[in-house]
Amino acid sequence: MENLNITAKITVCKYEELNRIEKKLIDMAKEATTHSYAPYSMFQVGAAALLDNGEIVQGSNQENAAYPSGLCAERVTLFFANSQYPESAVQLLAIAAQTGGKFTGTPTAPCGACRQVILETENRYDHPIRILLYGEDKIYITESIKDLLPLCFGKDELGK
Ligand code: THU
Repeated sequence: MENLNITAKITVCKYEELNRIEKKLIDMAKEATTHSYAPYSMFQVGAAALLDNGEIVQGSNQENAAYPSGLCAERVTLFFANSQYPESAVQLLAIAAQTGGKFTGTPTAPCGACRQVILETENRYDHPIRILLYGEDKIYITESIKDLLPLCFGKDELGK
């Protein structure tokens, strides 16, 4: 027997350390939280995606009285981006969340289902997505969803 030790590279930084476009994307993810429809969880999530055609697409979580029928901000954003601009790879994705009128102190990380959809988007365009997870106290950056989804299941596993 042997152990397989999996490591993830996550950069921890402050807003002031980001470049202009990264700051803009975080700002737009924060702004997108104000368009969230979250009357059940009261947890407003926003996302912003920069595409390789220069467009920035925003999205927010949209809940439903039948709980599973709602959708997370990340999937709203990516599905909208991919349906509106099917030829454009996603380069950068920012995520922010607020509740009780305050942005979270620690970064909000995507749920498992959203990680799987982010992986599909990376594979679809054969392009890694840099992910910025916003928190008031610190920001996490990963260069690919693979850091947040090790041992992932994707097209390679299907032989595609
Ligand atoms: N949510 C997101 O939009 N993104 C995440 O990464 C985590 C959770 C939403 C789903 C639901 O509307 C609310 O946050 C509480 O789970």
